[in-house]
Amino acid sequence: MSSVPSSTVHVPILVEPIVRALVEPYQLLPEDAPVHWLVDFTLGGGGHTAALLEALASAPRTARHKVLSLDQDPEALERARMRFARELEQGRLEIARRRFSEAEDLLEGRPVLGMMADLGFSSDQMDSAERGLSFQSEGPLDMRLDPTRGRSCREFLSQVSEDELGRILQDYGEERFARRIASAIIQRRREKKLPTTTRELAELIVRAIPAGARHGRIHAATRTFQALRIAVNEEMNELDCLLGRAILFLKPGGRAAILSFHSLEDRKVKHAFRQEPFEPLTRKPLEADEAETSRNPRARSAKLRIAERL
Ligand SMILES: C[S@@+](CC[C@H](N)C(=O)[O-])C[C@H]1O[C@@H](n2cnc3c(N)ncnc32)[C@H](O)[C@@H]1O
Repeated sequence: MSSVPSSTVHVPILVEPIVRALVEPYQLLPEDAPVHWLVDFTLGGGGHTAALLEALASAPRTARHKVLSLDQDPEALERARMRFARELEQGRLEIARRRFSEAEDLLEGRPVLGMMADLGFSSDQMDSAERGLSFQSEGPLDMRLDPTRGRSCREFLSQVSEDELGRILQDYGEERFARRIASAIIQRRREKKLPTTTRELAELIVRAIPAGARHGRIHAATRTFQALRIAVNEEMNELDCLLGRAILFLKPGGRAAILSFHSLEDRKVKHAFRQEPFEPLTRKPLEADEAETSRNPRARSAKLRIAERL
Protein backbone atom coordinates (compact mmCIF):
# COMPACT_ATOMS: atom_id res chain seq x y z
CA MET A 1 0.00 0.00 0.00
CA SER A 2 1.12 3.56 -0.70
CA SER A 3 2.54 5.52 2.23
CA VAL A 4 1.48 8.86 0.72
CA PRO A 5 -1.54 10.37 2.54
CA SER A 6 -4.41 10.64 0.05
CA SER A 7 -5.48 14.09 1.20
CA THR A 8 -3.52 17.33 1.18
CA VAL A 9 -3.09 19.76 4.06
CA HIS A 10 -1.87 22.53 1.74
CA VAL A 11 -4.12 25.61 1.59
CA PRO A 12 -3.88 27.35 -1.81
CA ILE A 13 -3.21 31.09 -1.84
CA LEU A 14 -4.86 33.94 -3.81
CA VAL A 15 -6.92 31.44 -5.77
CA GLU A 16 -9.60 33.86 -6.91
CA PRO A 17 -7.42 36.48 -8.68
CA ILE A 18 -5.27 33.78 -10.29
CA VAL A 19 -8.23 31.85 -11.67
CA ARG A 20 -10.04 34.99 -12.84
CA ALA A 21 -7.01 36.28 -14.73
CA LEU A 22 -6.10 32.95 -16.29
CA VAL A 23 -9.55 31.86 -17.43
CA GLU A 24 -10.50 35.18 -19.07
CA PRO A 25 -8.63 34.60 -22.37
CA TYR A 26 -10.39 31.22 -22.75
CA GLN A 27 -13.76 33.01 -22.62
CA LEU A 28 -12.72 35.00 -25.69
CA LEU A 29 -11.82 31.96 -27.82
CA PRO A 30 -14.14 31.26 -30.76
CA GLU A 31 -16.48 28.34 -30.16
CA ASP A 32 -14.83 26.28 -32.88
CA ALA A 33 -11.27 26.88 -31.62
CA PRO A 34 -9.24 23.72 -30.92
CA VAL A 35 -8.84 22.61 -27.32
CA HIS A 36 -6.53 24.96 -25.42
CA TRP A 37 -4.58 24.10 -22.29
CA LEU A 38 -4.02 25.83 -18.97
CA VAL A 39 -0.72 24.84 -17.38
CA ASP A 40 -0.13 24.64 -13.63
CA PHE A 41 3.61 24.13 -13.17
CA THR A 42 3.29 23.48 -9.44
CA LEU A 43 0.54 20.93 -8.87
CA GLY A 44 1.43 20.38 -5.15
CA GLY A 45 -1.73 19.42 -3.25
CA GLY A 46 -3.81 20.37 -6.30
CA GLY A 47 -5.61 23.40 -4.82
CA HIS A 48 -5.05 25.71 -7.78
CA THR A 49 -5.47 22.90 -10.30
CA ALA A 50 -8.88 22.06 -8.78
CA ALA A 51 -9.96 25.71 -8.96
CA LEU A 52 -8.83 26.03 -12.59
CA LEU A 53 -10.73 22.86 -13.57
CA GLU A 54 -13.83 24.10 -11.81
CA ALA A 55 -13.64 27.54 -13.44
CA LEU A 56 -13.24 26.08 -16.93
CA ALA A 57 -16.14 23.65 -16.33
CA SER A 58 -18.45 26.39 -15.03
CA ALA A 59 -19.20 27.99 -18.44
CA PRO A 60 -20.24 26.24 -21.68
CA ARG A 61 -17.83 28.49 -23.56
CA THR A 62 -14.75 27.28 -21.63
CA ALA A 63 -15.77 23.74 -20.65
CA ARG A 64 -13.94 22.07 -23.55
CA HIS A 65 -10.55 23.36 -22.53
CA LYS A 66 -8.14 21.39 -20.38
CA VAL A 67 -5.53 21.58 -17.64
CA LEU A 68 -1.97 20.22 -17.66
CA SER A 69 -0.42 20.09 -14.19
CA LEU A 70 3.23 19.35 -13.48
CA ASP A 71 5.35 18.81 -10.40
CA GLN A 72 8.78 17.41 -9.69
CA ASP A 73 7.63 15.60 -6.56
CA PRO A 74 6.48 12.01 -7.18
CA GLU A 75 4.31 12.11 -4.04
CA ALA A 76 2.39 15.16 -5.28
CA LEU A 77 1.59 13.25 -8.47
CA GLU A 78 0.56 10.14 -6.57
CA ARG A 79 -1.81 12.17 -4.41
CA ALA A 80 -3.21 13.94 -7.49
CA ARG A 81 -3.92 10.61 -9.17
CA MET A 82 -6.29 9.87 -6.29
CA ARG A 83 -7.76 13.35 -5.90
CA PHE A 84 -8.36 13.87 -9.61
CA ALA A 85 -9.19 10.30 -10.68
CA ARG A 86 -12.41 11.43 -12.35
CA GLU A 87 -10.92 14.42 -14.21
CA LEU A 88 -8.01 12.29 -15.40
CA GLU A 89 -10.41 9.62 -16.62
CA GLN A 90 -12.51 12.25 -18.43
CA GLY A 91 -9.37 13.60 -20.09
CA ARG A 92 -9.98 17.11 -18.67
CA LEU A 93 -6.68 16.95 -16.78
CA GLU A 94 -3.23 15.61 -17.62
CA ILE A 95 -0.50 15.35 -14.98
CA ALA A 96 3.20 14.69 -15.42
CA ARG A 97 6.39 14.72 -13.43
CA ARG A 98 8.57 17.52 -14.72
CA ARG A 99 10.78 20.26 -13.41
CA PHE A 100 10.32 23.77 -14.84
CA SER A 101 13.58 23.18 -16.71
CA GLU A 102 12.26 19.99 -18.35
CA ALA A 103 8.74 20.92 -19.39
CA GLU A 104 9.38 21.88 -23.00
CA ASP A 105 8.57 18.50 -24.55
CA LEU A 106 5.08 18.73 -23.03
CA LEU A 107 4.52 22.34 -24.03
CA GLU A 108 5.71 22.01 -27.62
CA GLY A 109 2.78 22.14 -30.05
CA ARG A 110 0.14 22.56 -27.35
CA PRO A 111 -1.96 25.74 -27.54
CA VAL A 112 -1.63 27.37 -24.11
CA LEU A 113 -3.33 30.60 -23.02
CA GLY A 114 -2.68 30.40 -19.30
CA MET A 115 0.19 29.35 -17.06
CA MET A 116 0.73 29.52 -13.35
CA ALA A 117 3.38 28.68 -10.79
CA ASP A 118 3.12 28.78 -7.01
CA LEU A 119 6.78 28.62 -6.07
CA GLY A 120 8.61 26.79 -3.30
CA PHE A 121 7.30 23.91 -1.24
CA SER A 122 3.85 22.73 -0.12
CA SER A 123 2.65 22.19 3.43
CA ASP A 124 2.46 18.47 2.60
CA GLN A 125 6.20 18.47 1.92
CA MET A 126 6.96 20.61 4.99
CA ASP A 127 4.93 18.33 7.26
CA SER A 128 6.63 15.19 6.02
CA ALA A 129 9.49 14.70 8.53
CA GLU A 130 11.46 12.39 6.23
CA ARG A 131 11.85 15.25 3.71
CA GLY A 132 14.00 17.07 6.24
CA LEU A 133 12.58 20.49 5.35
CA SER A 134 11.62 21.45 8.88
CA PHE A 135 13.61 21.78 12.08
CA GLN A 136 10.33 21.47 14.02
CA SER A 137 10.45 17.72 13.53
CA GLU A 138 13.43 15.40 13.54
CA GLY A 139 14.27 14.14 10.08
CA PRO A 140 17.23 13.31 7.85
CA LEU A 141 19.13 16.32 6.49
CA ASP A 142 17.68 16.00 3.00
CA MET A 143 15.47 18.96 1.83
CA ARG A 144 14.97 17.69 -1.71
CA LEU A 145 11.52 18.40 -3.20
CA ASP A 146 12.21 15.48 -5.52
CA PRO A 147 13.87 12.96 -3.19
CA THR A 148 14.78 10.62 -6.04
CA ARG A 149 17.58 12.71 -7.50
CA GLY A 150 20.16 15.41 -6.92
CA ARG A 151 22.14 16.01 -3.76
CA SER A 152 20.63 15.90 -0.29
CA CYS A 153 21.37 18.85 1.96
CA ARG A 154 23.95 16.77 3.84
CA GLU A 155 25.73 15.85 0.62
CA PHE A 156 25.62 19.48 -0.40
CA LEU A 157 27.13 20.57 2.94
CA SER A 158 29.85 17.95 2.62
CA GLN A 159 31.00 19.50 -0.69
CA VAL A 160 30.32 23.25 -0.63
CA SER A 161 33.13 25.71 0.15
CA GLU A 162 32.84 27.99 3.17
CA ASP A 163 32.74 31.11 0.97
CA GLU A 164 30.00 29.73 -1.24
CA LEU A 165 27.97 28.62 1.79
CA GLY A 166 28.28 32.06 3.35
CA ARG A 167 27.08 33.66 0.12
CA ILE A 168 24.11 31.27 -0.10
CA LEU A 169 23.02 32.00 3.47
CA GLN A 170 23.40 35.71 2.81
CA ASP A 171 21.65 35.86 -0.58
CA TYR A 172 18.94 33.23 -0.22
CA GLY A 173 18.36 33.55 3.52
CA GLU A 174 19.23 37.23 4.11
CA GLU A 175 20.87 35.82 7.22
CA ARG A 176 22.74 38.44 9.31
CA PHE A 177 25.13 35.86 10.70
CA ALA A 178 25.75 34.06 7.40
CA ARG A 179 29.56 34.00 7.75
CA ARG A 180 29.51 32.78 11.34
CA ILE A 181 27.02 30.01 10.55
CA ALA A 182 28.95 28.94 7.44
CA SER A 183 32.16 28.86 9.43
CA ALA A 184 30.57 26.76 12.24
CA ILE A 185 29.19 24.24 9.72
CA ILE A 186 32.51 23.90 7.90
CA GLN A 187 34.34 23.56 11.22
CA ARG A 188 32.07 20.62 12.06
CA ARG A 189 32.83 19.11 8.69
CA ARG A 190 36.55 19.33 9.41
CA GLU A 191 35.93 17.48 12.67
CA LYS A 192 34.02 14.84 10.64
CA LYS A 193 30.89 15.62 12.66
CA LEU A 194 28.62 17.16 10.03
CA PRO A 195 24.98 16.99 11.27
CA THR A 196 22.89 14.16 9.90
CA THR A 197 19.48 15.38 11.05
CA THR A 198 17.42 18.58 10.90
CA ARG A 199 17.51 19.10 14.68
CA GLU A 200 21.28 18.64 14.85
CA LEU A 201 21.73 21.29 12.17
CA ALA A 202 19.26 23.65 13.90
CA GLU A 203 21.20 23.29 17.18
CA LEU A 204 24.49 23.97 15.43
CA ILE A 205 23.05 27.14 13.85
CA VAL A 206 21.66 28.40 17.16
CA ARG A 207 25.04 27.86 18.84
CA ALA A 208 26.84 29.68 16.02
CA ILE A 209 25.01 32.98 16.47
CA PRO A 210 25.52 35.46 19.35
CA ALA A 211 23.55 34.52 22.48
CA GLY A 212 21.62 37.80 22.40
CA ALA A 213 20.27 37.08 18.90
CA ARG A 214 19.07 33.53 19.57
CA HIS A 215 15.53 34.32 20.64
CA GLY A 216 14.05 36.56 17.93
CA ARG A 217 10.56 36.62 16.44
CA ILE A 218 11.39 33.71 14.19
CA HIS A 219 13.49 30.65 15.06
CA ALA A 220 17.21 31.33 14.61
CA ALA A 221 17.50 28.48 12.06
CA THR A 222 14.63 29.63 9.81
CA ARG A 223 16.68 31.70 7.36
CA THR A 224 19.46 29.15 7.04
CA PHE A 225 16.97 26.35 6.37
CA GLN A 226 15.26 28.47 3.69
CA ALA A 227 18.59 29.28 2.04
CA LEU A 228 19.73 25.66 2.03
CA ARG A 229 16.41 24.47 0.59
CA ILE A 230 16.70 27.01 -2.25
CA ALA A 231 20.28 25.89 -2.97
CA VAL A 232 19.64 22.13 -2.73
CA ASN A 233 16.69 22.36 -5.13
CA GLU A 234 18.44 24.87 -7.45
CA GLU A 235 15.31 26.99 -7.15
CA MET A 236 16.78 30.16 -8.67
CA ASN A 237 18.03 28.32 -11.73
CA GLU A 238 14.66 26.60 -12.07
CA LEU A 239 12.88 29.94 -11.88
CA ASP A 240 15.19 31.32 -14.59
CA CYS A 241 14.21 28.37 -16.82
CA LEU A 242 10.52 28.99 -16.13
CA LEU A 243 10.76 32.70 -16.91
CA GLY A 244 13.29 32.47 -19.72
CA ARG A 245 11.97 29.44 -21.60
CA ALA A 246 8.78 27.75 -20.41
CA ILE A 247 6.49 30.79 -20.31
CA LEU A 248 7.50 31.68 -23.87
CA PHE A 249 5.26 28.79 -24.93
CA LEU A 250 2.24 30.98 -24.09
CA LYS A 251 0.26 32.10 -27.13
CA PRO A 252 -0.20 35.84 -27.71
CA GLY A 253 -3.05 37.06 -25.49
CA GLY A 254 -2.21 34.32 -22.97
CA ARG A 255 -1.45 35.08 -19.34
CA ALA A 256 1.06 33.95 -16.75
CA ALA A 257 0.52 34.21 -12.98
CA ILE A 258 3.37 33.59 -10.54
CA LEU A 259 3.16 33.45 -6.77
CA SER A 260 6.51 33.95 -5.05
CA PHE A 261 7.61 33.96 -1.42
CA HIS A 262 11.08 35.46 -1.50
CA SER A 263 12.30 38.91 -2.55
CA LEU A 264 14.86 37.46 -4.98
CA GLU A 265 12.13 35.43 -6.70
CA ASP A 266 9.78 38.39 -6.86
CA ARG A 267 12.51 40.53 -8.39
CA LYS A 268 13.11 37.98 -11.13
CA VAL A 269 9.38 37.69 -11.89
CA LYS A 270 8.94 41.47 -11.93
CA HIS A 271 11.85 41.86 -14.31
CA ALA A 272 10.68 39.09 -16.68
CA PHE A 273 7.12 40.44 -16.75
CA ARG A 274 8.41 43.87 -17.85
CA GLN A 275 10.35 42.48 -20.80
CA GLU A 276 9.06 41.86 -24.29
CA PRO A 277 6.91 39.94 -25.17
CA PHE A 278 5.19 40.43 -21.80
CA GLU A 279 3.22 43.27 -20.35
CA PRO A 280 2.51 43.30 -16.63
CA LEU A 281 -1.17 43.33 -15.61
CA THR A 282 -0.13 43.98 -12.00
CA ARG A 283 2.10 47.04 -11.53
CA LYS A 284 2.52 46.14 -7.88
CA PRO A 285 2.31 42.53 -6.71
CA LEU A 286 -1.04 41.43 -5.28
CA GLU A 287 -0.93 40.25 -1.69
CA ALA A 288 -3.34 38.24 0.45
CA ASP A 289 -5.73 40.27 2.61
CA GLU A 290 -6.02 39.97 6.37
CA ALA A 291 -8.82 37.43 6.22
CA GLU A 292 -6.65 35.11 4.11
CA THR A 293 -3.45 35.59 6.13
CA SER A 294 -5.26 34.90 9.39
CA ARG A 295 -6.64 31.66 7.94
CA ASN A 296 -3.33 30.76 6.30
CA PRO A 297 -0.14 32.25 7.79
CA ARG A 298 1.90 31.04 4.78
CA ALA A 299 -0.01 33.60 2.66
CA ARG A 300 1.69 36.45 4.55
CA SER A 301 4.80 36.50 2.38
CA ALA A 302 3.07 35.67 -0.91
CA LYS A 303 3.40 38.07 -3.84
CA LEU A 304 1.37 37.51 -6.99
CA ARG A 305 2.33 38.98 -10.36
CA ILE A 306 0.36 38.50 -13.56
CA ALA A 307 1.43 39.34 -17.11
CA GLU A 308 0.00 39.02 -20.59
CA ARG A 309 1.90 37.90 -23.66
CA LEU A 310 1.55 40.54 -26.35
C1 LIG B 1 3.58 25.83 -3.04
S1 LIG B 1 3.48 24.22 -3.69
C2 LIG B 1 2.13 24.29 -4.81
C3 LIG B 1 0.81 24.15 -4.12
C4 LIG B 1 -0.37 24.10 -5.06
N1 LIG B 1 -0.53 25.34 -5.79
C5 LIG B 1 -1.63 23.79 -4.31
O1 LIG B 1 -2.58 24.57 -4.39
O2 LIG B 1 -1.70 22.75 -3.63
C6 LIG B 1 4.84 24.16 -4.78
C7 LIG B 1 4.99 22.85 -5.52
O3 LIG B 1 5.86 23.10 -6.62
C8 LIG B 1 6.75 22.05 -6.77
N2 LIG B 1 7.96 22.62 -7.38
C9 LIG B 1 8.79 23.53 -6.85
N3 LIG B 1 9.78 23.81 -7.71
C10 LIG B 1 9.55 23.07 -8.82
C11 LIG B 1 10.23 22.91 -10.07
N4 LIG B 1 11.33 23.58 -10.35
N5 LIG B 1 9.71 22.06 -10.97
C12 LIG B 1 8.58 21.36 -10.70
N6 LIG B 1 7.89 21.45 -9.54
C13 LIG B 1 8.38 22.30 -8.61
C14 LIG B 1 6.99 21.52 -5.38
O4 LIG B 1 7.39 20.16 -5.46
C15 LIG B 1 5.62 21.72 -4.73
O5 LIG B 1 4.83 20.57 -4.83
